[in-house]
Amino acid sequence: MARILGIESSCDETAAAVIEDETSVLSSVVASQLAVHAKYGGVVPELASREHLRAIVPVVREALSITKLSWTDLDAVAATSGPGLAGALLVGLTYAKAISFATGIPLIAVNHIEGHIHAVILEAAQRGTPVEFPALALIVSGGHTHLFEARAEGGYRLLGRTRDDAAGEAFDKVAKLLGFGYPGGPVVDRLAPYGDSHAIRFTSAKMKGNTLDFSFSGLKTAVLRWVEGHDMTAEIAARRELLRHNLTPSVEEWLAVTPQATLDLLASFQGTVVDELLRHAVRATDQLEGVRSLIVSGGVACNSGLRKAVTERSTGIPVYFPTPALSTDNAVMIAAAAFPKFRRGDFAALDAAAEPNLALA
Ligand code: KG4
Ligand code: ZN
Repeated sequence: MARILGIESSCDETAAAVIEDETSVLSSVVASQLAVHAKYGGVVPELASREHLRAIVPVVREALSITKLSWTDLDAVAATSGPGLAGALLVGLTYAKAISFATGIPLIAVNHIEGHIHAVILEAAQRGTPVEFPALALIVSGGHTHLFEARAEGGYRLLGRTRDDAAGEAFDKVAKLLGFGYPGGPVVDRLAPYGDSHAIRFTSAKMKGNTLDFSFSGLKTAVLRWVEGHDMTAEIAARRELLRHNLTPSVEEWLAVTPQATLDLLASFQGTVVDELLRHAVRATDQLEGVRSLIVSGGVACNSGLRKAVTERSTGIPVYFPTPALSTDNAVMIAAAAFPKFRRGDFAALDAAAEPNLALA
């Protein structure tokens, strides 16, 4: 029996989890900093580091106390070493090193993106329908939009990536521009069904070179141009005012300050992003010989428009999404990704560095 404690602190969630024998989740604790960053319209790196410092000890202690285990019952401690915010990564990684040093259990450094992939592998195994390899992995979050080929042994090949904004970043920037606050993805997702996704035709980016690369900055600019061409000052002010009093307005409260034309804009924007993601996944499936499944993971994998489109427009292979709890950042995925490394004896040294730009492939 092996038990691994996982720690995640790459962005704005401080998280810890304990997993036993690859798939049995004994505990999972996530402390979100959303309320701290919301009023700034995005993650402020200095505040993130400070909040991680505040949360790391209680979060890890709670994850362990839920399991009723003690430090000596653990076989390894794993932490995200990158990619992410330098100061934020340092908090979780340094704490994991301290645990490793004090208890003598090995330290495992995990790539955050590999964590997102393992969130899906873990849940599929728990359901008794394991992911079949080689798989295509579409990682879509606030910081990443990557398409990988994933092999059974854990090797990865980068097939395409965004050349500018990440998909989640586009959601966040458009929502901020329109006065919907931060993070934008969940709000746009909840309001898009009230709009007509065919109302505004945004053209998808034409890629020179690698046709599996993504680009979302042109779409963001197109939304900005649309906003400049329509008088939206009053409604944007009304939404900002709503947010001043209420950080998490309900759909009804949003609808009261959002005209139909704006709902159409949100639906058309989301539809264009979903289309772009899906077209790339289908193109990659066609190009790759023998790919047996599609993994979609990262915060944007929560998006109901994306989930619906994937089920409706069959890709010809089974598609695996994480449950919402494991879509956004968590530590279950970090402990899960650490298991194959644990079995291989792939341990990190106590002077391992946090790597903000760490690549998976
Ligand atoms: O994976 P994650 O928690 O953090 C990163 O590693 O970046 O992803 C957060 C991102 C944010 O940009 C957020 O707006 C987006 O995921 N997101 C969504 C949804 N829920 C979260 N985007 C679209 N639809 C959603 N339902
Ligand atoms: Zn993430």
